[in-house]
Amino acid sequence: MSNLETLVFQAESDFVSAIDAASLEQAKARYLGKSGSLTELLKGLGKLDPDARKQAGAAINIAKQRVEAALEARRDALRLAALEARLSEEALDVTLPARGHGRGGLHPVSRTLERIETLFRGIGFDVADGPEIETDFHNFTALNTPENHPARSMHDTFYLEGAEAVMLRTHTSPIQVRYMQAHVARHVGQDSMPEIRIIAPGRVYRVDSDATHSPMFHQVEGLWVGESVSFADLKGVVSDFLHRFFETDRLDVRFRPSFFPFTEPSAEIDVAFPTGPLAGRWLEIAGCGMVHPNVLGHCGIDAERYTGFAFGFGPDRLTMLRYGINDLRLFYDGDVRFLSQFR
Ligand code: FA5
Ligand code: MG
Repeated sequence: MSNLETLVFQAESDFVSAIDAASLEQAKARYLGKSGSLTELLKGLGKLDPDARKQAGAAINIAKQRVEAALEARRDALRLAALEARLSEEALDVTLPARGHGRGGLHPVSRTLERIETLFRGIGFDVADGPEIETDFHNFTALNTPENHPARSMHDTFYLEGAEAVMLRTHTSPIQVRYMQAHVARHVGQDSMPEIRIIAPGRVYRVDSDATHSPMFHQVEGLWVGESVSFADLKGVVSDFLHRFFETDRLDVRFRPSFFPFTEPSAEIDVAFPTGPLAGRWLEIAGCGMVHPNVLGHCGIDAERYTGFAFGFGPDRLTMLRYGINDLRLFYDGDVRFLSQFR
């Protein structure tokens, strides 16, 4: 019977080395199949005499039960292993960071506009608004730029088809006119007029396009009118704003004499950074000046009594300088890879 012992041992080791259900069934067939070794042994019993047959039969059956038990044990083990493999495959690691929903963020120019508003509100300025489609009167005439005045050709204007003397505003300066007229109307008949102190951010349009000019861009108008407002106040307000905006004292501000029909004297404001990638270059960021008496007069303000200054910043340029961007058009391409850097 040591033959049977060997056979059981061989079957057990065959089953254990079966790595999956299919190879286990193949191993089973070698012992318990139609012509498996145990089956053959049982078939051979018939040739034995009754006594020997009884003894051998009992031994073979015990061996068969052991083989079947080994088979069942291996089946269970394989089933369990398969289950565990699947569970670990489907496992969810709740400690992984979430993928998120691609949250949006403010456009860098909007950030600049918000920042400008906050800084000017902090020194007592209100925020005013005006239409983007303007009349020739507000955009030019009331700003001391009558028809056929050469200064009109300084702006390449988008006119509206079919409408006479109506255009996309070329600057935010018409808001000066609208605000002063409304202010005067609110205080008509009073002994004195309260000071005007506003900024007016908004979109403006010009037939213009290159790395530092875009056909649609932004301006922030500023206007301070009162009884003794001077050019020194203008310089103080603007320099202070710029140092706060760029969060540095290491910034040079220059008022370069210039011309605008609606201010006298007029200047352009340039900034230069003594260090960093833009070091040593003057960059124009605004126009400014003392409000021209003719403009005050157009709005019903006594130019003998009141003076004021105005400025018009280019917040797109301020944004370029603040973030070190060299092409303005990137702001308006709508490329998420660019914009998401400012979230
Ligand atoms: C004006 O538009 C005047 N209205 C500014 C002003 C207001 C002067 C009040 C006096 C008193 P200017 O055309 O220079 O001026 O434009 C002002 C600023 O807007 C420029 O310094 C620049 O920063 C920005 N800017 C002008 N054109 C463009 C453009 N195409 N793209 C982007 N920014 C521009
Ligand atoms: Mg200019």
